[in-house]
Amino acid sequence: MRHLMSPLDFTVEELNTLMDLANDIEANPAKYAHACAGKKLATLFFEPSTRTRLSHEAAMLNLGGSILGFSSADSSSAAKGESVTDTIQTVSCYSDIIAMRHPKEGAPMVAARRSTVPIINAGDGGHQHPTQTLTDLLTIRSIMGRLDNLTVGLCGDLKFGRTVHSLIEALVRYTGIKFVLISPEELRLPSYIRKDVLDRHGFPYEEVESLDEALPQLDVLYMTRVQKERFFNEEDYVRMKDFYILDSKKMELAKKDMCVLHPLPRVNEISVDVDNDPRAVYFKQVQYGVYVRMALILTLLEINVE
Ligand code: NCD
Repeated sequence: MRHLMSPLDFTVEELNTLMDLANDIEANPAKYAHACAGKKLATLFFEPSTRTRLSHEAAMLNLGGSILGFSSADSSSAAKGESVTDTIQTVSCYSDIIAMRHPKEGAPMVAARRSTVPIINAGDGGHQHPTQTLTDLLTIRSIMGRLDNLTVGLCGDLKFGRTVHSLIEALVRYTGIKFVLISPEELRLPSYIRKDVLDRHGFPYEEVESLDEALPQLDVLYMTRVQKERFFNEEDYVRMKDFYILDSKKMELAKKDMCVLHPLPRVNEISVDVDNDPRAVYFKQVQYGVYVRMALILTLLEINVE
C-alpha cells in the first residue's frame, strides 16, 4: 500500500506516468467515469480549504466513487480531544482512501503509520503540499510543454508557503531549472530547504527582493499569498501582506510566453486586471488539479483502466 506524503514519494518516471494518465483523463473523461464505482474517499480537513478538499471530492465523484468526511476540526471529535491516530483508525473502517489536511507538520505521516488505507497529505502546516505540486507540475508541463530548462520565479511567502517547499523539492530533479526566490527578507525560504535541498546539490538559484527586476528573465512566475494563519502576530502580517502586487503594468516587464501560476486562494498579490492576460493560468491550474487528483486516486488504489 502506498501513501502520498511528499512529492518525492514518486520517482520522476512515476510522475510522468501519473501526468500522462491525467492528460488522458482530460481527453477521455467518459472512459474513467465508473473506474472507482463502489469506492469511497474520506476527506479529513482539520484546516480550512476550498480547492484541495473539493477537488479531491470532485475527482472521486468523476471516477464514479463516493465521498464522506469533515471540513473543520470543530465538527469532528478532534474538538473533544481525539488523537489523529484514533480518528484515522476509525475512518479507515469507513473508506478506501483518505485525503487529510492538518495544521501540524508531520500529522499525515503519523496517520499513515496507523492507517489501513492509502493516505494523501493534503497539506501539513507550513511543511508540504504534494497534491498541489502534482497540480503545478501538470499545469507547467501541459502549458509550457516541458518541465526542464525553465527559470522559475517563486514570489511571496517562501517561509511559510508549503506549496513552494513541495514544488522546489519536486523541480530540483529536472535538468536546466533555475530558481529565482523573490521575497522580503523576513519571508525567505527556510534554511532546511535552502541548505539541504538547494545548496547541497549545488542547485542554481538567486534570492532577490525586487519582483520588477526578476520578472524579465522568468519562464514561470509562481505567486503566493502571505500565510496569515502561520504568523505569530497580526502586526507582522499587516506589514508584509501587500509587499508584492502583480498587476497588468508589471506584466509588461515579463516575457510574452511566461506563465503565472498561483495555488490560490489569492488575496491582494495578483490584481484582478491580470486575470484576462493569457499568461495568467491560475484558473486552468485549478482544473488540472482535478485531473491530477483523479490520476492519483487511481494510482494509489491500483486501478487500471484499459
Ligand atoms: C494552498 C495551501 O493550502 O497551502 N492552497 C491550496 O491548497 N490551493 C496555498 C495557500 O493557502 O496559500
